[in-house]
Amino acid sequence: MFHVPAVNQVIKAGLEFHSPITFLVGENGSGKSTIVEALAEAYGLDAYGGRAGRKFVNDRPQTPLGEIMRLYYTPTGAKLSASRRKRKGYFLRAETAFGFMSFVSGMPGYWEEDITKMSHGEGFLTVLNTMFSKPGLYLMDEPEAALSFSSCLRLIAIIHRLVNIGGQVICATHSPVLTAIPGAEILELGSHGIHQVEWKELSLVDHWRRYLSDPSFYLQPLLEEDPQ
Ligand SMILES: Nc1ncnc2c1ncn2[C@@H]1O[C@H](COP(=O)(O)OP(=O)(O)O)[C@@H](O)[C@H]1O
Ligand SMILES: [Mg+2]
Repeated sequence: MFHVPAVNQVIKAGLEFHSPITFLVGENGSGKSTIVEALAEAYGLDAYGGRAGRKFVNDRPQTPLGEIMRLYYTPTGAKLSASRRKRKGYFLRAETAFGFMSFVSGMPGYWEEDITKMSHGEGFLTVLNTMFSKPGLYLMDEPEAALSFSSCLRLIAIIHRLVNIGGQVICATHSPVLTAIPGAEILELGSHGIHQVEWKELSLVDHWRRYLSDPSFYLQPLLEEDPQ
């Protein structure tokens, strides 16, 4: 995976985060999950998803990028993460989150609600609402996968609350809703590597805007009958 331009750039030049909220956007395969997973491993969050200092579900070896990644903290970040045991954070990985969340429901340090009795999206919000509560590093990989439009807005409120108490959020996403949070830094991953972009200039925002105003522009070429 070191051949992926964004991953290669992280290895060669590192990556700085300038805002308490960072979104990683880019096409499938551009390296978002690889980077978020490696950050989770470097910080001490289970790369399968979960909170700091716990490894309930997954004992797999570190990913190649996670193995070599080193984190450099701000002075406040350094204080908060001085002891690996006291480090706060959570990694919500949409792909594996539901199995993991069902497994730890009711365990000490997690949430009390039985999320197996909730919808996927309700479960996500319950978990995020409970776990995003202390200053620390919070990672998400495509949280919008399970969330409706209004649930995405609730997630924005949860992120905002967390950032106000000193938390940092790094989130891989395809969501034009989430990426619109004011003040968030948006990093676009692609064949060029990684560069910072404004929300209004994001290609995903442009595609959504055009699709919503005229779906046929995108759909017609796909649905045209094959000439025999
Ligand atoms: N387990 C793996 N082993 C080898 N290569 C991988 C593995 N996972 C991902 N890759 C490579 O890294 C690329 C980026 O994957 P990923 O980070 O999952 O992309 P994204 O999350 O942006 O869709 C993939 O296209 C693939 O080439
Ligand atoms: Mg991914």
